[in-house]
Amino acid sequence: MQFYPRKSPRRILDATVNGGRFWRGSKRTVVGIDIESAHKPGIVADNTRMPFADAFFDVVVYDPPHIPNQGKDKQKDFNSRFGLGVKSTKERGYAFTHTFPPFVAEAYRVLKDEGLLFAKIADYVHDHCYQWAHAELMQAGRDAGFVPCDCIIKIRKGPIIDPKWKVAHHSRRRHCYWLIFRKSEACE
Ligand SMILES: C[S@@+](CC[C@H](N)C(=O)[O-])C[C@H]1O[C@@H](n2cnc3c(N)ncnc32)[C@H](O)[C@@H]1O
Repeated sequence: MQFYPRKSPRRILDATVNGGRFWRGSKRTVVGIDIESAHKPGIVADNTRMPFADAFFDVVVYDPPHIPNQGKDKQKDFNSRFGLGVKSTKERGYAFTHTFPPFVAEAYRVLKDEGLLFAKIADYVHDHCYQWAHAELMQAGRDAGFVPCDCIIKIRKGPIIDPKWKVAHHSRRRHCYWLIFRKSEACE
């Protein structure tokens, strides 16, 4: 947020705010929306149909649910941490990638020219298939008119391992990505 904007952003939208963990200890003023009222967001709203005027925000932040439907595991608390109140269907491959195009189109609409979209996204393995969420999001961003500018790899302390997984066929994901998109012709 200090590095990419050309001037200090005034209007910031967190489009998947959940518990607002990104903003703990931050002095920034952020509008937070979430589809689940249980998270007590500033505004309960669907980020594929946002209640904001065109070209209103300087920055949009996005951290969509990224783990396919899980069983209940009270220890891990996946439901509140990863927004797994939202489920995906078998027909969708239990993935959330179908939500990327309508979201990025809305993000593009509510951003000012030269505005930035910061998206935290994780690939994962589900049903024995590698799910290329970051590649799907990058393509959705391009299709919506954004220019993808950067990809930051964020390392986590430990991979998510379900105790019922006995044999690994893919490496355990120890990282996720921050993709940075600009509503512009160019990144620089
Ligand atoms: C991974 S969590 C976000 C965590 C958040 N970044 C934090 O730091 O606390 C994903 C959130 O997206 C929300 N969500 C899912 N679909 C949504 C939609 N269409 N519109 C708005 N929020 C949505 C979920 O309810 C969930 O709270």
